Formats: sequence, C-alpha cells, structure tokens
Amino acid sequence: MLRGSKVGLRARHEDDIPVLRAELYDDVVNASRAEGGPWRPITPGSKDPRLVGDEQNQANVPFSVVELEGGTLVGAANLWGIDNHNRSAHIGLGLLPACRGKGYGTDVVAVLCHYGFIVRGLQRLQIETLSDNTAMLRSAERNGFVREGVLRSSAWVMGEFLDEVLLGLLAQEWKPDSQG
Ligand SMILES: CC(C)(COP(=O)(O)OP(=O)(O)OC[C@H]1O[C@@H](n2cnc3c(N)ncnc32)[C@H](O)[C@@H]1OP(=O)(O)O)[C@@H](O)C(=O)NCCC(=O)NCCS
Repeated sequence: MLRGSKVGLRARHEDDIPVLRAELYDDVVNASRAEGGPWRPITPGSKDPRLVGDEQNQANVPFSVVELEGGTLVGAANLWGIDNHNRSAHIGLGLLPACRGKGYGTDVVAVLCHYGFIVRGLQRLQIETLSDNTAMLRSAERNGFVREGVLRSSAWVMGEFLDEVLLGLLAQEWKPDSQG
C-alpha cells in the first residue's frame, strides 16, 4: 500500500465495488462532472474497468483510497494515460461524498505524485478539471501543480459547455511533503 499522511492507496477489493458504484458512478451529476464522458448506468456484476480495473491496460493504474486509521474505503484514484516515452501521466480521483473536504483529496494527490515521480520515474504529471472545481484545483495547487491554461468550453456537462483548467507539475518542481 502507498501511504500518505491521512490516506492509503491500495488495490481494488471486491467489497469496494458496490460502494464505489452506488456512491460515485451512479451519481449522474458527479460522474458527468468528473469523467469527461456521458454518464451511463453500470450493471451490478459488470466488468466495467472503472470498477474492476483492467490488468491488460498498462497505461492505467487504479487504486482504492482508504483511511490509514481503520482502513475504511473513502474513494478511488488512478494514474492514467501513462506514457513511458514522454514519461508523463494524468491524475484522476473521486472521493465518496461524506469523505470530501477533510484534506483527503490533497493527500491523495501527494501520494499519486510519489507514485508517479518516484515509483514510476515519470517527468510530468497533469490534471484536467472543471474550472469551477475549487476543491480539485486547490488539492492540485497545494501539491505544487501550476495552472498552464484554460481549455475554453471543452467539457459538455449536464446541458452546457464548461471550461476546464489544465494543471501540470514537473519532477524537478515537486517538493515531497510540501502541501503548502
Ligand atoms: C475534488 C476532490 C477530490 C477534492 O478532495 P477533498 O478531500 O474534498 O479536498 P480537500 O479537503 O483536500 O481540500 C482541498 C482544498 O479545497 C478546499 N475545498 C474543499 N472542498 C471545497 C468546496 N466544496 N468548495 C470550495 N473549496 C473547497 C479546501 O478548503 C482546501 O483548500 P485549502 O488548500 O486552501 O485549504 C473531492 O472533493 C471530490 O472527490 N469531488 C468529487 C469528484 C471530483 O470532482 N473529482 C475530480 C475530478 S477532476
């Protein structure tokens, strides 16, 4: 398991799946805002890669996020679009509604930076998020990510086009344990 100060990132367990499906992926608004694609219902027992992962897909590493104290599931995170030539990847995360606003998101980004830069030897990590997603923007910026641009009207979300912000962090800029 990868450990932050509050949360750990471990493999997906069977018991996590119904909780993540009900609380993250069945929520039409949350899924539409977070996923960059149209919401579709997930059939219980399906092998949807968002829930069960796809071990053939080396470019995507899915994690379940748990509280270090007690091990309770609090969300899902992944390093995706891993490009071993350009040594870059993207960060994605979603926390269960009751677990937001407690500093866990900031800690998850820190752990994914450790995984990307130290474990995987990457050079650049990137995050795309809606421009009104203050919690995601702050979680990224607290870890040193800088805003590199605004993708105007790039996301179709629940009936309207919204802007996305592109944030990047380079290995040489990253300060472990900063979150300042
Ligand atoms: C985005 C998300 C992962 C952030 O994690 P979090 O644990 O809620 O965020 P934190 O508690 O670490 O807070 C980070 C910062 O955002 C601020 N913040 C938290 N929730 C906020 C809210 N609802 N509105 C405004 N600011 C908020 C915190 O005060 C903190 O600011 P600071 O660094 O200036 O002190 C989480 O809210 C989430 O899962 N949201 C739904 C899914 C999603 O949007 N995923 C990202 C898709 S790109």
